[in-house]
Amino acid sequence: MAYYRTPHDVTTLPAWQALTQHRAAMKDFSMRDAFNADPERFEHFSLSACGLFLDYSKNLIDAQTRDLLVQLANEVDLQGAIKAMFAGELLNASEGRPALHTALRRPVGDKLNVNGVNVMPDVHKVLNQITELVTRIHDGLWRGYTEKPITDVVNIGIGGSFLGPELVSEALLPYAQKGVRCHYLANIDGSEFHELSAKLRAETTLFIVSSKSFSTLETLKNAQAARGWYLAQGGSEAELYRHFIAVSSNNAAAVEFGIREENIFPMWDWVGGRYSLWSAIGLPIAMSIGMANFKELLSGAYTMDQHFQSAPFEQNMPVLLALLGVWYGNFWDAKSHAILPYDHYLRNITKHLQQLDMESNGKSVRQDGTPVNIDTGPVIWGGVGCNGQHAYHQLLHQGTHMIPADFIVPVVSFNPVADHHQWLFANCLSQSQALMLGKSRSESEAELRERGMAEEDVQKLAPHKVIPGNRPSNTLVVERISPRRLGALVAMYEHKVFVQSVLWGINAFDQWGVELGKELGKGVYQRLIGENEAVAEDASTQGLINYFRGRHRG
Ligand code: F6P
Repeated sequence: MAYYRTPHDVTTLPAWQALTQHRAAMKDFSMRDAFNADPERFEHFSLSACGLFLDYSKNLIDAQTRDLLVQLANEVDLQGAIKAMFAGELLNASEGRPALHTALRRPVGDKLNVNGVNVMPDVHKVLNQITELVTRIHDGLWRGYTEKPITDVVNIGIGGSFLGPELVSEALLPYAQKGVRCHYLANIDGSEFHELSAKLRAETTLFIVSSKSFSTLETLKNAQAARGWYLAQGGSEAELYRHFIAVSSNNAAAVEFGIREENIFPMWDWVGGRYSLWSAIGLPIAMSIGMANFKELLSGAYTMDQHFQSAPFEQNMPVLLALLGVWYGNFWDAKSHAILPYDHYLRNITKHLQQLDMESNGKSVRQDGTPVNIDTGPVIWGGVGCNGQHAYHQLLHQGTHMIPADFIVPVVSFNPVADHHQWLFANCLSQSQALMLGKSRSESEAELRERGMAEEDVQKLAPHKVIPGNRPSNTLVVERISPRRLGALVAMYEHKVFVQSVLWGINAFDQWGVELGKELGKGVYQRLIGENEAVAEDASTQGLINYFRGRHRG
């Protein structure tokens, strides 16, 4: 199987050079004017796919921009890269692995060979295992050490073994089955463990130790703490198997921890952590919403996979979003991208997309190891609306940075309260409208004069009221959040991130950058507890170690 290689330098491609010239020509492009000039701009720059509606008309683009961006995608052979990913080529070259999270949502009967072995039967075997466990828990057949049914499931995991499952199980709370509550324990911070364990009873709690590697410090420490707590509450070593199961590709380590082999749900090295919610890492999701809904989630993601593979690029949702991101990041110097869900249940999507995007595309060398000469992944940040409007949106409207934003909003609320949802939706639309329209100096002055303000005061105040406008955003509308549409939405962002990695020629599936901190952490820890008296590599760290040692008690 060949290593998939992307072009060495995207900036040398004809489309890139044409885009550079086009960007110069777009210097004075005004979205307001573009809407006035083309009454069908909304129709020309919006599309539906897989239950999602994307309006990308509020962007600094015209038809030529889109054509050139699509040309760029063609020049890097994006289609070839998409085929390579779905076929299981070794896209993750630095780790010598394919990236096959898409296999996890393929239907029964599909074939996919990895190293000459069809992996699909195993994928569906694990889904059946999950179904069996979920049924036993929901039917009260899985019992704790006092023979009581399980009421609480705690997922112990961090990063991809936490953020995806947390996003989906919370986003789909309206679909939650009665009887089982899901909790997440991620950080090594003892306060998190303390607060959570205070709410639980060991006899009715099941812990899922969720770690692909089964070597992640935070997860192992929390698993040990949970085990100690379970024993202190009256559980025994002999009954441990009723309360601890695992999801991991490291069987030996999970068995050594005390988990029975039949209670270890496998993971494969061809599924990256941040792409793993579709695997057994999604167990807490399935526990929460039930297996039928979990399968709906998978099938929503599958429909997005189909769309991604088959839609022409100019009508391909993840491709368009990726191209817009490259347009702003590389041609307009945007450094960050805001994710603004206007939905309480989707409030965790920003955190998930932060890991998905920043761990995937926070890279400085290309697949072949040569340094990139352009910016790669942006800073992903944001949070739920309307809350953000009363906090950081000020900077979006009047700050000096251009920050493209994705607004995500459902048409139908699960919990209508008076006219709250109409107001929520209106606020979402008016924010993107305000970003685009802005308020000119003359409009600001006229507004103040109309209020009867003296001309001297008008001149003083007007500059503060000017809002530059012309700031880009996408609006993603979901009719109503459902497992299927959420699956499509999350898969869409996965593909967006992949497309950008192909354009930049980087590997979206490794994460070597997180390793150094982990390695240094061991040395710092040893110095903190006095196991290593050697001076730290730098005076700042040593000074802080001394500060801690001088004051820490207990
Ligand atoms: O440290 C980063 C990371 O490796 C992520 O990529 C991953 O999602 C997370 O840690 C958890 O890893 P594991 O599932 O192996 O515990």
